[in-house]
Amino acid sequence: MLIGAKVNIGPFVPDDYGAMYCWANDVAAARFDATFRPVNLAEVVRQCDSAGKDASRVMFAIRKHGASAIIGYLHIQNINAVHRSADIGIRIGEEKNRGAGYGQDALALGLDYCWRHLNLNRVGLIVFRNNPRAIKAYQAAGFRREGCLKKFFFIDGAFVDVLLMAAFAPARRKRGGVPAAKTSPAADQMAVRPSQAA
Ligand SMILES: CC(C)(COP(=O)(O)OP(=O)(O)OC[C@H]1O[C@@H](n2cnc3c(N)ncnc32)[C@H](O)[C@@H]1OP(=O)(O)O)[C@@H](O)C(=O)NCCC(=O)NCCS
Repeated sequence: MLIGAKVNIGPFVPDDYGAMYCWANDVAAARFDATFRPVNLAEVVRQCDSAGKDASRVMFAIRKHGASAIIGYLHIQNINAVHRSADIGIRIGEEKNRGAGYGQDALALGLDYCWRHLNLNRVGLIVFRNNPRAIKAYQAAGFRREGCLKKFFFIDGAFVDVLLMAAFAPARRKRGGVPAAKTSPAADQMAVRPSQAA
């Protein structure tokens, strides 16, 4: 489990499936995501279950600290080992839990997981231009706008513009490196210079 300031992200448990099923069939939330299509329970369970077995994706349940109920989910998909890239998606399931900082917190945890555990370099997403709350949450988590696909999707009776956003891995710290000022003379003598190496 990964722990943030407001939420933690971790594995699914069977008690989560009911909420996941309702959110998958939430027509209002789908207006910010994709063309609505009904999803059956077996498909929802398969999605949550198979994420641990499929190297191209990882799915996390989002929970508030100290509570067992799921409040949303984070989906990292299209993980590509060659390009070291992936796409990310998120849903906070209930309106009462939106706008409270949970999304930003979960996204920050998800991004950190992408850098530290998946060794990715770029994480991208798409978001509808008419979804300012999501855009703000993504910006706060470190995503920057890359472009706009005009009238790209047809959603609930209208074409919508889609923004491309991405975040990149921060520069890495050198592991095990001893700062020069703190290096002892003995350590200097023991160090193997490039010309001495086999
Ligand atoms: C998009 C989503 C994941 C964001 O998570 P969240 O927990 O609601 O977002 P946060 O509270 O962390 O951040 C939202 C930011 O937008 C601001 N905001 C809230 N309502 C807003 C509105 N109507 N217009 C503009 N900004 C708004 C908040 O103040 C906050 O910014 P701040 O940190 O500067 O105060 C969540 O709202 C969600 O799942 N929505 C429904 C589906 C959806 O939109 N999916 C996106 C698909 S790309």
